[in-house]
Amino acid sequence: MESKIELSSADAVKTFPAFPVVLVAMGDEERNVFTVGLVQAFSFNPLILGIGVHPSRHSFKLLQNLADFSVNIPGKELVEQVLYCGTKSGRDTDKFKETGLTAVTGKKIKSPVIGECLVNFECKKSKVIEMGDRTWFCGEVVNIEAAKDYARDKGMLYWGGEFRMPGEVFRRR
Ligand SMILES: Cc1cc2nc3c(=O)[nH]c(=O)nc-3n(C[C@H](O)[C@H](O)[C@H](O)COP(=O)(O)O)c2cc1C
Repeated sequence: MESKIELSSADAVKTFPAFPVVLVAMGDEERNVFTVGLVQAFSFNPLILGIGVHPSRHSFKLLQNLADFSVNIPGKELVEQVLYCGTKSGRDTDKFKETGLTAVTGKKIKSPVIGECLVNFECKKSKVIEMGDRTWFCGEVVNIEAAKDYARDKGMLYWGGEFRMPGEVFRRR
């Protein structure tokens, strides 16, 4: 067995290989979009997605007051928009206008989905869980649309300051 080193929690969290990165859009009259790496499926049937949000985000306040939001999977070509939405706040900027991302009216929710993304999940907020420095907004998925040519390896991954694409399949179950 290899000898081990001790890590701080700040360094240890960076040892995860990567997580999917998504764009979360919300709002009816006041719309916003922001980048989220903390996204998780909490249940498969029904499908429930959760996003971990820091209270300092403008989106946090919006999500508290809204009944729904959308989770959208961007492809590699949207990396600049993903960075923009993850570094600028909707408090000061209209991120849809600045990035050119298209807010498409949701089919079953009031919040928009993002036209350019590969997959759009429309979520109705079902549970809010405060945990440590993040609050998880969980939503039951009520409508899903995907690009016809969507494939799992077209979604972007992020962690520790690096954007990646999924790698090789080296074993099947
Ligand atoms: C790749 C990436 C992933 C991010 N993941 C999260 C996340 O999971 N949760 C979060 O609260 N903020 C996350 N952020 C930061 C927010 O997207 C960022 O603070 C954004 O400007 C907030 O926008 P808002 O103020 O309009 O809500 C991430 C940023 C980047 C670039």
